[in-house]
Amino acid sequence: MTQKIAIGSDHAGFQLKEILKSYLQSEGHEVLDFGCPSEESCDYPDYAAKVAHAVAEGKAERGVLVCGTGIGMCMTANKIKGIRAAVLRTFDDARLSREHNDANIACLGGRITAVHQAQSLLDTFLKTPFQGGRHAARVQKIEIHAKS
Ligand code: RB5
Repeated sequence: MTQKIAIGSDHAGFQLKEILKSYLQSEGHEVLDFGCPSEESCDYPDYAAKVAHAVAEGKAERGVLVCGTGIGMCMTANKIKGIRAAVLRTFDDARLSREHNDANIACLGGRITAVHQAQSLLDTFLKTPFQGGRHAARVQKIEIHAKS
């Protein structure tokens, strides 16, 4: 199933972001690119916020964020209400963040994860459905606790 996907990176994730953008488009997805536009140094929170807001507001179904490690992007994106971002390193991360946590943004490390691994992790992330059931109430509690 093709999806509308918001993508963003900082300078450290720029190269991988460009490759993943082309890859996602070749798979038939619609990609909204929120920058950054080059390898010139910039600040990852600015791009994490743009992608996170696009997903939270329903302008995209999923998001992809790439920085050096994926960690700073993930920390920032999770500050936005309604966002459940996960750093993906392994296939279990990609699968379980969807099945159990209904993650809506995938964060990748351009300095950590090789291109083919990143593409495969994204494939798994995009194709794996949320399991619901006992996980649904737990996911709802994420937002409840965010308010306190
Ligand atoms: C940039 O040097 C680096 O700190 C950034 O891309 C990211 O890894 C932060 O989490």
